[in-house]
Amino acid sequence: MTAAHGPSSPGSRPPTGAAAVLGVTKSFGAVQALRGVSLEFPAGQVTALMGENGAGKSTLLKILTGDHQPTEGHVALDGARLALASPAEARAAGIRIIPQEPEIIPHVSVAENVYAGSLPRRAGRRLDRAELRRRVTADLERLGFAGVLDPDLLGSQLTPAQRQLVEIMRAVTGEQARVIAFDEPTSSLSEHEVDALFSLIRRLRDQGIAIIYVSHRMKEIFQLADRIAVLRDGALAGVQDARTTTEGALVRLMVGRDLSAMFVRQDVATDRVVLDVQGVTTDAVRGIDLQIRAGEVVGLAGLIGAGRSELALALAG
Ligand SMILES: Nc1ncnc2c1ncn2[C@@H]1O[C@H](COP(=O)(O)OP(=O)(O)OP(=O)(O)O)[C@@H](O)[C@H]1O
Ligand SMILES: [Mg+2]
Repeated sequence: MTAAHGPSSPGSRPPTGAAAVLGVTKSFGAVQALRGVSLEFPAGQVTALMGENGAGKSTLLKILTGDHQPTEGHVALDGARLALASPAEARAAGIRIIPQEPEIIPHVSVAENVYAGSLPRRAGRRLDRAELRRRVTADLERLGFAGVLDPDLLGSQLTPAQRQLVEIMRAVTGEQARVIAFDEPTSSLSEHEVDALFSLIRRLRDQGIAIIYVSHRMKEIFQLADRIAVLRDGALAGVQDARTTTEGALVRLMVGRDLSAMFVRQDVATDRVVLDVQGVTTDAVRGIDLQIRAGEVVGLAGLIGAGRSELALALAG
């Protein structure tokens, strides 16, 4: 394959096949969202996709999943060219996405949401509830979601994290997935849920699935990724080996220059006290003393209800 790719993977997981985009360009009217991007997604590796807002990350995923057709270039799987006319075709080829915004049917159960489109039927096309129950129980167990996701809840009752889990179950159940893309999956997850998601992603990777992981969070990228591809203004700015690259190198690729040149550090704090608060007491706060000097940024921390906003309102009169 001629796709651009980084240094080879950690030795224990040799690439056994790969998805790729080759020379992909995508225009939306006058907007060029992607410009000649060639990039490989090796099996059994996590390829992180980074880039500033609007760099083209979601557009690239939507081309892989058949939601958009490239203006030029094409998608390949195991070296064979694929013409993906629809999301259904991409799904049948084993390419799945956990979208940035989960799509949940509000008035049916979690189980029916997960298998929508391939629900088990009995004679007369009636839903086979026993089979549905058996299937969802087995899949929840296998994925480590048992106890986290109640299959009887309605779509409308789900928290953002549970909606995300439904999308993940859709992606990894049914016919064997070859490529799974996660588009900023952790934005609505708690730390505990992120841990569960990451161990699932690692398990999927170790089964030989090509994982694509879109995130703005450096910490997550370095925890998960084998390779890191950076898009800038729709073009591939570079591919880095996660074991050897640095945050600074990635930021330079993302913005095209050194961040330290954009935000030059200046020490401007002085000893001149601008605001002198002594013994301020209101209904919500008691005996607050606080001095703020010229050029300082002072953080006001505390739990919900501790009186932060009330103090700020009192200071503002
Ligand atoms: N359906 C569309 N119609 C018109 N323009 C679009 C469409 N989808 C994306 N774009 C434009 O294409 C460019 C790339 O958008 P894209 O959503 O791929 O960026 P992104 O890297 O995913 O950004 P973010 O980090 O904010 O999610 C942007 O300029 C965006 O406005
Ligand atoms: Mg996006």
